Amino acid sequence: DAAEKGGYEHYMLKEIFEQPEAIRNATRGRIDADQGTAVLSGLALSPRELVDFHRLLIVGCGTSLNAGLVGEYAVEDFAAMLGEVEQAAEFRYRNPIVGSKDLVVAISQSGETADTLAAVREAINKGAMVAGLVNVVGSTIAREAGRGIYLHAGPEISVASTKAFTCQVSVLLSIALKLARGRRMSLEEGQRIANEILRVPDLVQQVLEKNDEIAKVAENFVKFDNMFYIGRGYMFPVALEGALKIKEISYIHAEAYNAAELKHGPIALLEENMPVVALMNKGPGKEKTVGNVEECRARKAPVLGVITEGDDEAREACDWVIEIPECPHYTATIVATTALQLFSYHVARLRGCPIDQPRNLAKSVTVE
Ligand code: G6P
Repeated sequence: DAAEKGGYEHYMLKEIFEQPEAIRNATRGRIDADQGTAVLSGLALSPRELVDFHRLLIVGCGTSLNAGLVGEYAVEDFAAMLGEVEQAAEFRYRNPIVGSKDLVVAISQSGETADTLAAVREAINKGAMVAGLVNVVGSTIAREAGRGIYLHAGPEISVASTKAFTCQVSVLLSIALKLARGRRMSLEEGQRIANEILRVPDLVQQVLEKNDEIAKVAENFVKFDNMFYIGRGYMFPVALEGALKIKEISYIHAEAYNAAELKHGPIALLEENMPVVALMNKGPGKEKTVGNVEECRARKAPVLGVITEGDDEAREACDWVIEIPECPHYTATIVATTALQLFSYHVARLRGCPIDQPRNLAKSVTVE
């Protein structure tokens, strides 16, 4: 067991640290920086087919669902194409509008999640083109979808998903880039984004080097029973995934809100025992999130900011910060999530939780 953990105390920590390599594997041979596009042969789609789709519809559960939301934002942002993410568990019960004009991407680390599999079958029955974005080779969803992209993230043992998420997002950004270049995006713009995707493993590595610092910050959160996570735009899915991670492994109740929604209800809960984790790294919406953080502090809620290195304005608005390297918001989803994974890990460790096997959770849920 100790050998399998490669010297780490838990599989989760090992898998967090594997991310630079895992993301390199997930994007290897798939990003063509010269052509500013992605090569995704597993999708098996002609250039014509790629342009003809009206919508990218993404289904998944849990962490895979949160990754899907980044995909929705990216396809709209890069390709000006309709993107939509749906909870796989609800999909077949809503008589969903889906058909031959849709490219459906089913995201599942295990490839065995019953709800996601049911959504795949529903979409196939309704005539959509379905592709799996799956980690486990030969799994049911990979086989039934018939086409797709393997993550190549390597085995994920920890129940709480880490490297699968960051690899899923890397591949979703690649899919969005490919769809964009088939439509409206210029070569230069495509090259810029391709190079940003290729930078991600190094940026993640820089966050991992802050592990000790993040562990120190985590000490301040051990005593809390509730938390908020806030972010805007691309950083909203990061807030969702951050809150999910802390719930899963530390048993602290956490809610994620778009920072703009805070004032429409949840602000009533803010007081000194309701800490807020704010995604306030540089990018669209940052200034507004800083404003929201000031509102939180005015109500005595302590704030941990995920900020861009050297951003003194953001730092001054917070009680504690975790700094991440500067990068565009679409890749910051991966970089900031890594920071929040480490944060959750240390809070859970300090609370004495069974990190790799949280109570009531299964690695893959094969029943409805
Ligand atoms: C379970 C796991 C989660 C995971 C979800 C979806 O609930 O505990 O960590 O995100 O299933 O799993 P999948 O294998 O489909 O990505």
